[in-house]
Amino acid sequence: MLVSAKEMLTKAKAGKYAVGQFNINNLEWTKSILLTAEELKSPVILGVSEGAGKYMTGYKTVSAMVSAMIEELGITVPVALHLDHGSYEGAKACIEAGFSSIMFDGSHYPIEENIAKTKELVAICEEKGLSIEAEVGSIGGEEDGVVGKGECADPDECKMVADLGVTMLAAGIGNIHGKYPENWEGLSFDTLDAIQAKTGDMPLVLHGGTGIPEDMIKKAISLGVAKINVNTECQLAFQEATRKYIEAGKDLEGKGFDPRKLLAPGAEAIKATVKEKMELFGSVGKA
Ligand code: 13P
Repeated sequence: MLVSAKEMLTKAKAGKYAVGQFNINNLEWTKSILLTAEELKSPVILGVSEGAGKYMTGYKTVSAMVSAMIEELGITVPVALHLDHGSYEGAKACIEAGFSSIMFDGSHYPIEENIAKTKELVAICEEKGLSIEAEVGSIGGEEDGVVGKGECADPDECKMVADLGVTMLAAGIGNIHGKYPENWEGLSFDTLDAIQAKTGDMPLVLHGGTGIPEDMIKKAISLGVAKINVNTECQLAFQEATRKYIEAGKDLEGKGFDPRKLLAPGAEAIKATVKEKMELFGSVGKA
């Protein structure tokens, strides 16, 4: 059964570890993440971008697939199905479709409009027992074609948005989606410290979890980060494993590629990446 992310993140913040959000794109991705979470007895959040939702034919398909997979695979650890960087309309559609958690990314609206829309979605989520993530300050890099510069969030704005009753707060602290450039200045721990001082127990979310050095991940967790999003690293692992398999050319003779065989090395590579991250984030055994 899908659960809201509230309880797992409250426990993570109190216990000074973070729960990984791993984005899914298809059945293989989802299966790899669920099996790894179960094996490691770790809570997990499955992230779905609007683009990935569309690719998988829509949020209802995603929700039905994930729920059925949890049952068929006998998954017992807490799993939240979460809309990643949702628009206002996307958030409403996912609530309808049976997601257990949503992110409303209102960071591109003026703060007043972000607040009004967030408030409305908080009320709906509260009534239905879902968790909701808000974002303040933009996360840099590209997400579904939208490129952000990566400004640091204003701690007072974070406090204002946290007070609206959201479950978790994503605050820009110099993090970027995708690979970090050579001249990246690193995370702004002063900003994170100031945000945590203003928002207290609120679980903070670190986007762009790919390629952040381990010491920075650990420091971010010590300063209140309780959820870390990872996407690109799984894609890179999948790409590399699939490339090697194709280059070996085993199935090029005869009947052509068997999709089950073609996607298997990538699925294994995702398992290894998820395992590594769960160990780094400290969520192993916390289910
Ligand atoms: P990466 O693709 O950099 O891992 O970031 C994922 C993310 O933050 C999704 O919201």
